[in-house]
Amino acid sequence: MKTEAELGHVDYRWFSRIQVEHDSLDRVFNSLSSTLTLMATPSASPQDPDLLADVRDDLSFALDEMLEHFGAEEEAIFSQIRAHLPSLKQAADQLERDHEVLCQKTSQLRKMVSAARAGDGDLDLKTALQIIGETTELLARHNQQEVQLFFEAFERFDTEQRAHLVKTLQNH
Ligand SMILES: [Fe+2]
Ligand SMILES: [Fe+2]
Repeated sequence: MKTEAELGHVDYRWFSRIQVEHDSLDRVFNSLSSTLTLMATPSASPQDPDLLADVRDDLSFALDEMLEHFGAEEEAIFSQIRAHLPSLKQAADQLERDHEVLCQKTSQLRKMVSAARAGDGDLDLKTALQIIGETTELLARHNQQEVQLFFEAFERFDTEQRAHLVKTLQNH
């Protein structure tokens, strides 16, 4: 029996998964931005324990999601690009560096919020807003560039390379 690829039908479900995960990360970062912005208004307080706990938990969730998502991309897609499409290697390397920066900034903010929630000093809201702004902006740009790169790479992969990508992603 012929595979879907041999019949000329390309399975793009792997791509939907990437987009669903990007949307989920966008939502959590937009929610974090809203909560931190609210904490800067006179009706709320940057040291409100409930808001600090919400932000801390959202940041923990975001970090877990990012580690899982970035790990799958690096293992299943970036490594394949490096192996088979040298002209796209530089773009893949830059996107992988973004992963490090995104995790670093999220982790730094989580530490700050966690310390404030634990009573270890006040939250520096100005710095927190700056970090969340930079991270949200970088994430949006990263996702946009990445989707373009993944799509271009997949179009250029042969049937075997496409099957390998889909299988590696499914197993991650
Ligand atoms: Fe990524
Ligand atoms: Fe991604």
